[in-house]
Amino acid sequence: MRIAITGGGGFLGGRLAGQFLANGHVERVLLADVADVAPSADPRVVFLRADLTDPAAAAAVAEGADFIFHLAAVVSGQAEADFDIGMRVNIDGTRNLLEAARAGGRRPRFVFASSLAVFGPPLPNVITDDTAVRPQSSYGAQKAIGELLVADYSRKGFVDGRVARLPTVCVRPGRPNAAASSFVSGIIREPLSGQESVCPVGTALELWLSSPRAAVANLAHAAWLVPGSLGERRTVNLPGITVTVAEMISALERLAGPEAAGRIRFREDPAISRIVSSWPARFDVGRAVGLGFVRDPGFESLVRDFVADQAAARPLG
Ligand SMILES: NC(=O)c1ccc[n+]([C@@H]2O[C@H](COP(=O)([O-])OP(=O)(O)OC[C@H]3O[C@@H](n4cnc5c(N)ncnc54)[C@H](O)[C@@H]3O)[C@@H](O)[C@H]2O)c1
Repeated sequence: MRIAITGGGGFLGGRLAGQFLANGHVERVLLADVADVAPSADPRVVFLRADLTDPAAAAAVAEGADFIFHLAAVVSGQAEADFDIGMRVNIDGTRNLLEAARAGGRRPRFVFASSLAVFGPPLPNVITDDTAVRPQSSYGAQKAIGELLVADYSRKGFVDGRVARLPTVCVRPGRPNAAASSFVSGIIREPLSGQESVCPVGTALELWLSSPRAAVANLAHAAWLVPGSLGERRTVNLPGITVTVAEMISALERLAGPEAAGRIRFREDPAISRIVSSWPARFDVGRAVGLGFVRDPGFESLVRDFVADQAAARPLG
């Protein structure tokens, strides 16, 4: 089995590759990215520097792949700040990749990483897989357009598409990124490493979160689903947990003490607040759970996972 992952140098792409490399049936994992990808000692890993806005690069990514995971994207804050790059990467890049998959004629399974950002107010109390999309950001609009493209390329039989709408993934290691939701990880990650972090929203804000482990397991699961299991509804809202910012800070305090929680400063950022407040935080994920997608047990486990992963990644001695 040959896997291609776009955005293979990113946060979730690299972890997803690790999940597949643990599977003996995988012959090749192609990591395609416009940026650098961390080297791998596994001979099945191939790195391809590819900018998906170039159709020839998209063709090289799709060539020979049985499973294509389309994770490459310009994230929410950047897509809002630079409309043109968001449109080019998130729409033209997605279309180029779908066209390349179509031209290959192999009808690959095509997993598209979409987002809760496709939803916006007025929101119902609980979101289901049938709730209409109403994005309030360019990123959300671009993801919604990508979803429709995947659905139509699937209807035409060009790919076997599966659209996984991810919650906000937390805790993301490393440095803050250009996502409007970057603070969600920042208010846990930075205080745990002794640094201050700025929270740009009020503590009552509810968020819909997933751990990286659950997100990656669910992206892989989307590909493994038997063809036809999604019926005509190829889009699934992945399971998550509903947490307020206040509950996140309490969990941090319980696990790392009051001095860690004291490193969070509050400074409202209207631009960030407007985007993240438009995202829903309550979902009925009965269909996803019935299909075998997994959910995290609670927010403390997200923090514990992060601490354990950081410790495992730290060189000994
Ligand atoms: N992490 C989250 O909280 C979250 C939540 C919802 C949805 N998603 C979606 O999941 C996917 C993966 O998220 P992530 O957190 O790993 O993002 P990330 O930013 O870490 O990775 C995205 C990768 O795409 C690459 N990329 C950007 N433009 C490209 C181009 N033109 N051609 C090829 N590669 C390009 C970037 O270099 C980057 O390595 C994205 O599509 C994102 O929108 C993520």
